[in-house]
Amino acid sequence: MAKPLLEATDLGVRYGQATALDGVGLSLGPGERVIMLGRNGAGKTTLLNVLSGIVPAARGTVTFAGEPLLGRPAHAIVRGGLAHVCEGRRVFPTMSVRDNLFSGGGWIARHRRAELHDQAMDLFPRLRERYRQAAGTLSGGERQMLLIARGLMLDPKVLLLDEASQGLAPVVVDEVLAAVERISELGVAALVVEQNTRVLGLSGRVIIMSTGRLIFSGHSGDPGILDQVRQAYLDDAPAGPAGAAS
Ligand SMILES: Nc1ncnc2c1ncn2[C@@H]1O[C@H](COP(=O)(O)OP(=O)(O)OP(=O)(O)O)[C@@H](O)[C@H]1O
Ligand SMILES: [Mg+2]
Repeated sequence: MAKPLLEATDLGVRYGQATALDGVGLSLGPGERVIMLGRNGAGKTTLLNVLSGIVPAARGTVTFAGEPLLGRPAHAIVRGGLAHVCEGRRVFPTMSVRDNLFSGGGWIARHRRAELHDQAMDLFPRLRERYRQAAGTLSGGERQMLLIARGLMLDPKVLLLDEASQGLAPVVVDEVLAAVERISELGVAALVVEQNTRVLGLSGRVIIMSTGRLIFSGHSGDPGILDQVRQAYLDDAPAGPAGAAS
């Protein structure tokens, strides 16, 4: 088996008294795609934030391309090839689409940036049409495309994608997921965090997080995967009056 590109073991994060991650392990091979599902507050964003250096871990290890990653500053992690497309879809609203695209990655050689830019434009022709427009005037789907394209322009080996489909119309979700598929074809590994089970249309390993732990592992191609995922969500329901949750 190929050596993992990104490997995390036993990650723990606390916010004051609250435990957000409790013993999470994860591995991602070169070009591999992992789909992570989980309810609100499960700890998905916290995990991505630890991997990209935004949130410190209280315990655990992470290696990226064979090097220890925890404790490195976020800017060094990005340069090392790990790009994080955060939830919340924040663009620089008064800057053009073009300027947003070029707002990171200043360390990348000019010819490589041009190549990455062309790839991003091929992936999202809509951005080409909106190229000179202020990013604040884009639709939600277009903003998401812009942020993914901007992530790609950082020349990542791994792309972390946090709830890219949130609040988008199904047809736009499919457009975004199709782009994720093509990003994998470029050889970029992806950790795709979602609440929308439509993401199971992508092929990849599927994991589910619940209250800071991984509770399920499968593959989107497994027979009955949608039912298994739904069941895992049901089992994960907060305890009702009858105290159904264990
Ligand atoms: N900065 C913070 N300070 C205190 N608690 C936090 C902070 N960020 C997250 N939490 C808590 O940690 C837990 C995990 O949150 P996280 O944002 O990682 O979950 P999530 O799975 O991404 O949820 P969502 O689907 O709503 O984005 C939640 O209980 C949340 O309230
Ligand atoms: Mg989140």
